[in-house]
Amino acid sequence: MLDPLNILKNEWENIREGIRTAHHDFHSFVLSTIRNNGPESRTMILRFFNEDDPSIWFHTDKRSEKLLDIKDNKDICTLFYDRSRRIQLRMHGIGSIEEDGRTTKAVWGSMRPESKLCYMGPYAPSEVIAEYKPNIINKSAQEIDESDDLLGYSRFCRVKITINRLDWLHLDHKGHKRIQFDFDEKIKVKWLAS
Ligand SMILES: Cc1cc2nc3c(=O)[nH]c(=O)nc-3n(C[C@H](O)[C@H](O)[C@H](O)COP(=O)(O)O)c2cc1C
Repeated sequence: MLDPLNILKNEWENIREGIRTAHHDFHSFVLSTIRNNGPESRTMILRFFNEDDPSIWFHTDKRSEKLLDIKDNKDICTLFYDRSRRIQLRMHGIGSIEEDGRTTKAVWGSMRPESKLCYMGPYAPSEVIAEYKPNIINKSAQEIDESDDLLGYSRFCRVKITINRLDWLHLDHKGHKRIQFDFDEKIKVKWLAS
């Protein structure tokens, strides 16, 4: 079990499970970007994973501040914690906005109408509002028409994070275990003290 490549394989399986299952702790993660030389963190839902060129994807509004951060500085750090297994994954990577319109359109087309509503609100993300008003369209998911759908789609985007480093930590009362994986042409593995 202490073969690092087996450990990595198992974590990738948990990442896949996190996408499939809302109850899995890897369903969401903390995304940190850089803004004006300082860190900014927020919780995101994990949407897609590719093991070959290890990368993860999230969905967001094109107008959001995190996207402006990534346009300025592509360096990203993500943090996952699986409480039941006591496993932390800290991954560094490079963010890029999905330019493949066909994939974006296909993903948008596969989303539930309820999930699309938050892209149809009257305000831009982080806009200052004089008083609280819900930032969703004033219609039910069943009432949205083609023009609402087009508006939502014009704001929707997928962001890919190409992972270049994974710091794996297993909390264990007999001694914590920690491995660093670097994803170059080959995977480089180092055990680290913790
Ligand atoms: C559990 C949880 C999941 C979230 N998932 C997303 C998400 O997938 N995409 C997103 O844009 N915002 C998501 N948010 C909201 C973000 O954390 C953040 O508040 C918002 O996107 C504004 O971030 P920004 O101003 O840095 O762009 C989520 C928040 C929570 C609490």
